[in-house]
Amino acid sequence: MSIMANLPKYLVIAVTVGSVIVIVSKMTKSNKPDVSVAVNVPALSKEAVQGQQLFDDNCSACHGKSAAGSDKGPPLIHKIYEPNHHGDGAFQMAAKRGARAHHWKFGNMPAQPQVKPNEVAAIVRYVRELQRANGIY
Ligand code: HEC
Repeated sequence: MSIMANLPKYLVIAVTVGSVIVIVSKMTKSNKPDVSVAVNVPALSKEAVQGQQLFDDNCSACHGKSAAGSDKGPPLIHKIYEPNHHGDGAFQMAAKRGARAHHWKFGNMPAQPQVKPNEVAAIVRYVRELQRANGIY
């Protein structure tokens, strides 16, 4: 058989393989969304510096350095988490009970019961100071 006679077959194969690659890469992308943001870090208050330490120890593995996001969790320096939409209580609840995946495709956030309410308050202070310095309030 000549190449010309087989051309339609080759085309079908090429298109099929091509679509599979596109679909698979789309799926992989939605599993690991790259939503990290650039964060300006301002001069922090004393409480926020304590919050920063607690955040680095307990939250940054998923939410990224300076809450800029990672491939395991969303940035908290994001419009979604401005105080009017996710008040300080939402942070307390997230630490105490975890959070069901609803805004993103990272999966659920597991509870972080090792972080006590007064420590979460310091983390919130840190996140709010970062948010304000990045135009989110
Ligand atoms: C194992 C990964 C992981 C860790 C550790 C983690 N988070 Fe999360 N967090 C997530 C994911 C994923 C979401 C997004 C859920 C969604 O799709 O809305 C989230 C969402 C949140 C939300 C929003 C909750 C809501 O009501 O929508 C807050 C606030 C939050 N995290 C704070 C924290 C704080 C504070 C810490 C540290 C004490 C922390 N997270 C540690 C993964 C994590």
